[in-house]
Amino acid sequence: MKPKPVYDNIVLIGFMGSGKTSVGKALKRQLYKKFVDVDTIIETEENASVSDIFQNKGEEYFRSLEQKCIHRLMQNTGQIISTGGGLPIYNSLSKKSLIIYINADFDVILKRLPAKERDKRPLLQNESKARALFEQRKHIYEEQANFSVDANQSIPTFIHVILDYILDQRVL
Ligand code: S3P
Repeated sequence: MKPKPVYDNIVLIGFMGSGKTSVGKALKRQLYKKFVDVDTIIETEENASVSDIFQNKGEEYFRSLEQKCIHRLMQNTGQIISTGGGLPIYNSLSKKSLIIYINADFDVILKRLPAKERDKRPLLQNESKARALFEQRKHIYEEQANFSVDANQSIPTFIHVILDYILDQRVL
């Protein structure tokens, strides 16, 4: 009989643009699991981009959608879940999930993100405000995570670190 996995799901957390979605897609391919992205689910269900939701309905409304979405996803198992950068700030994540912090420095994030990707993120429009937000949030990411990966290296390099950790832990 196959042993029961230790965790229900893998949840990727970290600041905007740290690489959560790229990591999630790579893990999906390597682990043959379902990959879901909270922002994409919200955009599909609202038929609007995150930026438009912020602009037309406000951040508070977006946060309530995020909360409902993560709550619903937690009812299922065997998923790799990529979260928006604010989700773990406003919600405490289930202890039944393996929470991985994609831990990249602010300057690395800025260098990595093409202008088109920056434009999609309302809270990244003002660099000094975004840097202050990063400083406020990084402790919360660290507190919520079971595992923090140094994401200042290239994405393919640190994906291997995550995969080794997951395979060691019998996660899913
Ligand atoms: C946000 C991060 C974004 C998106 C929204 C708000 C945040 O997701 O959810 O723009 O508060 O950090 P990414 O982390 O995928 O950019």
